[in-house]
Amino acid sequence: MPKTYSNIVVLTGAGISAESGLATFRSANGLWNNHRVEDVATIEAFQRNPEYVHDFYNEMKPELLRAKPNPAHLCLTKLQQAFPNRVSIVTQNVDTLHEKAGNTNVYHIHGQINQAVCLNCGHILESWGDITTETNCPHCEAVGFMKPNIVFFGENLLYMDKVDSLLQNCDLFISVGTSGVVFPAAAFVQIAKQNGAETWEFNLENTSNNYYFDHHIFGPAGTTLPRFVDGLITEASPD
Ligand code: OAD
Repeated sequence: MPKTYSNIVVLTGAGISAESGLATFRSANGLWNNHRVEDVATIEAFQRNPEYVHDFYNEMKPELLRAKPNPAHLCLTKLQQAFPNRVSIVTQNVDTLHEKAGNTNVYHIHGQINQAVCLNCGHILESWGDITTETNCPHCEAVGFMKPNIVFFGENLLYMDKVDSLLQNCDLFISVGTSGVVFPAAAFVQIAKQNGAETWEFNLENTSNNYYFDHHIFGPAGTTLPRFVDGLITEASPD
């Protein structure tokens, strides 16, 4: 009997983009070793010094725009083609490498670097250009209300109703390249497991919430994930 799945959820973190040359948050050269969260990733910081926060995210854009997807992102497109409408990707990453790889059904729960949100009317502006305190909202035309569409600490995550329902219904949960220290994403594996999903973790090393994973695959995701995806596809259609 071929083994197949009805609803697959792939949770990704900064580690999936590491082999595309993007630093993770908590590595030695990571963002949070060079910047204080309180200065650039809280709503209070943005209210206190919006110019500084805008500059921080504007400066990240060229590197993220240039970055190319690696085999870990690309194999997810193959997985989605093999299991049509049955694979959702929930990412904590603000880069757009999933989209560049052709992945669909991608939910950016921590926001996207190439978007700004108007705090006056809620309009989302798509832009790789600089956003400043002078940028006007193309919808309501208010000036000075655009905020990077990055979820700051203390703010609600995006798409959580959708993600909740995906987790309730998933039968295969795959976590790739996340340290599992930032909630609520760190609790997704627990929800999926309680709802009966098989759970797999792909990481270079053990993580703090590894208790809920049935399987751990250690190594660079660009190597380990394509191999795993090929195995899933073969199992689902052995001929
Ligand atoms: P972290 O930097 O906390 O963790 C990255 C994880 O990826 C670590 O566990 C690494 O061991 C692993 N890793 C690194 N390279 C890898 C590779 N080639 N293959 C597989 N695994 C690899 O990043 P996140 O868990 O994504 O939030 O961080 C979660 C959130 O914390 C981020 O979304 C960000 C940050 O504060 C916001 O900005 C809102």
